[in-house]
Amino acid sequence: MSAELGQETGAVEANPLCRLSLDQLRRRTSMKWRTYPEDVLPLWVAEMDVPLAEPVARAITDAVALGDTGYPAGTAYAEALAEFARKRWSWEGPTAERTAIVPDVMLGVVEMLRLVTGPGDAVVVNCPVYPPFYQFVRHMDRRIVEAPLGPDHRIDLAALRDAFARAAGSGRRAAFLLCSPHNPTGTVHTREELTAVAALADRHGVRVVADEIHAPVVAPGAAFVPYLSVPDAASGLSLMSASKAWNLAGLKAALAVAGPAAAGDLANLPEEVSHGPSHVGVLAHTAALRDGGAWLDALLAGLDDNRRLLADLLAEQLPDIRYEPAPGTCLAWLDCRALGLGDDPAAVFLERGRVALSSGTAFGTGGRGHARLNLATSPELITEAVRRMAAAVA
Ligand SMILES: Cc1ncc(COP(=O)(O)O)c(C=O)c1O
Repeated sequence: MSAELGQETGAVEANPLCRLSLDQLRRRTSMKWRTYPEDVLPLWVAEMDVPLAEPVARAITDAVALGDTGYPAGTAYAEALAEFARKRWSWEGPTAERTAIVPDVMLGVVEMLRLVTGPGDAVVVNCPVYPPFYQFVRHMDRRIVEAPLGPDHRIDLAALRDAFARAAGSGRRAAFLLCSPHNPTGTVHTREELTAVAALADRHGVRVVADEIHAPVVAPGAAFVPYLSVPDAASGLSLMSASKAWNLAGLKAALAVAGPAAAGDLANLPEEVSHGPSHVGVLAHTAALRDGGAWLDALLAGLDDNRRLLADLLAEQLPDIRYEPAPGTCLAWLDCRALGLGDDPAAVFLERGRVALSSGTAFGTGGRGHARLNLATSPELITEAVRRMAAAVA
């Protein structure tokens, strides 16, 4: 499917992960490059070390040249997502009528949870999971109920059933914040798993909000299944965005998509939410989904190479780290428990190796003794990071 998009544009793209030097990257002023001192190699937050895809850069520079920097209007972003979903996932789901533009995925998650739960209600998460799931949910006065993933990093349906029973048991409203694909493990949930999740949620009266931001990043050969495409998911809500796959976090815009039975909820989204997305962000995200297919294919091939490279380097230099390459994200989840570095191995790698990874402890239950490494960089920097990590524990 992805090759088809590349052919449509006729372009052959170079690997975007090999295009920027360390000197160029150090000139960046974003979080990844400015949180730590210059001697630290940053492979933590999910920013990618890539130049912008040309169609995205063109959309932004055209807008700047025209002074087209006002408020967002229209449904082009939703239409671009619909076309992308049809081509890549054979899914006809995200119609413009059941789609709303939100400022970004996490603020979209908050707004969707506000639509389907009230203060004090429970939100179920599959831990270990993206740390802001905890922070944002607690900040909006909802309770977290954890349903740990199984040891194989897949959804444990028995644990989910228990969590749903606890979350909705007292007759209160409850939601499940599904991460699909899963950050940090890269698990791509199967149609069977998502169908079982939807049936379980339906039975317990739990509303599903699916964070599908990593969907376009799924490796060739693995099949992303949109949550709203499975049976019994009609009351679900999904958040999608071009931000991870095309590195557009600084260009705020994301889409909330409602299943047919949730359209009424989405219609209740307060008007003020539409003031958050940036018009230039909407233009950039739209161009990425509509015209960024060849660039994305080159990125996905580069990420696949990096997964293999990391696995080889760890096997040679740090064989006590367990890493299972997984297709659903540009991040690598490293089980460092056998190294005996305590709860927070990332702190040791930072202190002794001057390489910044994300601390597993922030990812909830199951995160201790783990660290997350961002693979969206050049093979040279991955090689240097592993060299530093190995030296740190030698
Ligand atoms: C699972 C997940 N959701 C949301 C986000 C953040 O998205 P946004 O910047 O659109 O809020 C990220 C960023 O890495 C993520 O991994």
